Amino acid sequence: MIKKTYNVVTFGCQMNERDSETIAGMLENMGYTYCPEFKEADVCVLNTCSVRENADKRFFGVLGQLKNPHEQNPGRITCVCGCMMQQQVHIDTLKAKYPWVDLVFGTHNLHEFPKLFANVAEQHEKIIDIWKDGTALAEDLPAKREYPFKAYVSIMQGCNNFCTYCIVPYTRGRERSRAPEKVLEEVKCLAAAGTKEIMLLGQNVNSYAGISDGSEGSPFYGKTGFAQLLKEIDKVEGIERIRFMTSHPKDLSDELIECFDSCSHLCRQIHLPVQAGSDRVLKRMNRHYDSAHYLQLIEKLRKACPDIAISTDIIVGFPGETEDDFMSTIELVSKVGYDSAFTFIYSVRHGTPAEKYEDQIPEEIKHDRFNRLLDVIHSIQEEKAKLYQDAVMPVLVEGVSKTNGSMLTGRTESNKVVDLPGDKTLIGQIVPVKITKAQTFSLYGEVYKGETNG
Ligand code: 5AD
Ligand code: SF4
Repeated sequence: MIKKTYNVVTFGCQMNERDSETIAGMLENMGYTYCPEFKEADVCVLNTCSVRENADKRFFGVLGQLKNPHEQNPGRITCVCGCMMQQQVHIDTLKAKYPWVDLVFGTHNLHEFPKLFANVAEQHEKIIDIWKDGTALAEDLPAKREYPFKAYVSIMQGCNNFCTYCIVPYTRGRERSRAPEKVLEEVKCLAAAGTKEIMLLGQNVNSYAGISDGSEGSPFYGKTGFAQLLKEIDKVEGIERIRFMTSHPKDLSDELIECFDSCSHLCRQIHLPVQAGSDRVLKRMNRHYDSAHYLQLIEKLRKACPDIAISTDIIVGFPGETEDDFMSTIELVSKVGYDSAFTFIYSVRHGTPAEKYEDQIPEEIKHDRFNRLLDVIHSIQEEKAKLYQDAVMPVLVEGVSKTNGSMLTGRTESNKVVDLPGDKTLIGQIVPVKITKAQTFSLYGEVYKGETNG
């Protein structure tokens, strides 16, 4: 019998990627096999993101491409889930314009997917099932992980911060943390299966507050903070690299900063979104910190870990942003000297407070500022890249390079991509690599055979 096939198309952040691993795991448990081409799969799940307008647009573009495959094979099943589905406006659009969608579910009932899917597959029903709020986090769901040697571990869901531009608190609900024992158990299982690197995930990991489930022998008691969780994960044998994202500056504690010194497996790297350099804008964004506080955090981080790599998210063109406000962002970016920065043009999100702000910025000004900011960021990166030249550093080899099939690709501790020649047997290993060519956006190296200092 030919097995039926599936594909999951993921839009958006690592949280969505992690959810897609669960969906893939569920489909494999139901007997489906992976098909690399989404238009050819018998079942296609589109996991949507609504953080910015272009993610919405890309989703509708991909969904449109499924019209023909559906007409050629009406037996195929199209499922849509994720953040966009928590907004009624998108459900209405799907109903009106995309009749080939068979199943719609949201962020709060992902664990119900097998049941909903079985009804669609067996009864040939169309189902739209969206829950308004999240319940306790479902545990022990299957997952088909992308790599055997590195894994995402979700530690919490949701966000309580209500930054005025952001849709996430409305689509993902309030913060809910997993029990620390459950997180630790997952990390131990991954380590036993050969995973070397884990990325702890949450919208705001710094406000993790897991309640101990009281299991016997647990190192946790009562309420556990993120730093405490990290210290226990650091002890798990076999885990050589720990990363986390995303951090909110308002909740970055001294105890957590200290971990960069004391936890030997914590990568010397942090993603700390600043969003803007102007205090007036930060206030209107409801970020609960000012630029001085942010810079103080950077100073503390560099004191605890002098060579820490720092990355950030920045929004340009937030409503009411003046040229002076924008220049404050440029100033802050230059002061920090980011290793990398993800820059976004502000896009109005329906239902957020900033949607109602009257002083929206014209598109051409937003684009002009965006380009000027990129120029500054790139020149900093150009300087930083030079520091990599001839350095020897451990690289986790992840696979074959996407840009050159005859090369391998891996990541440094600072999360920089390095391409290197080598045998595929290196994939999954952490090897010392000497950087032979350091360009602004790409590093090239070769496995280093000489002596290293550990
Ligand atoms: N417009 C532009 N960027 C946004 N982000 C979140 N909401 C918006 C929006 N409405 C950015 C923030 C956040 C990142 C994940 O996406 O910088 O940190
Ligand atoms: Fe959105 Fe702010 Fe929550 Fe991040 S912290 S998910 S930007 S509301």
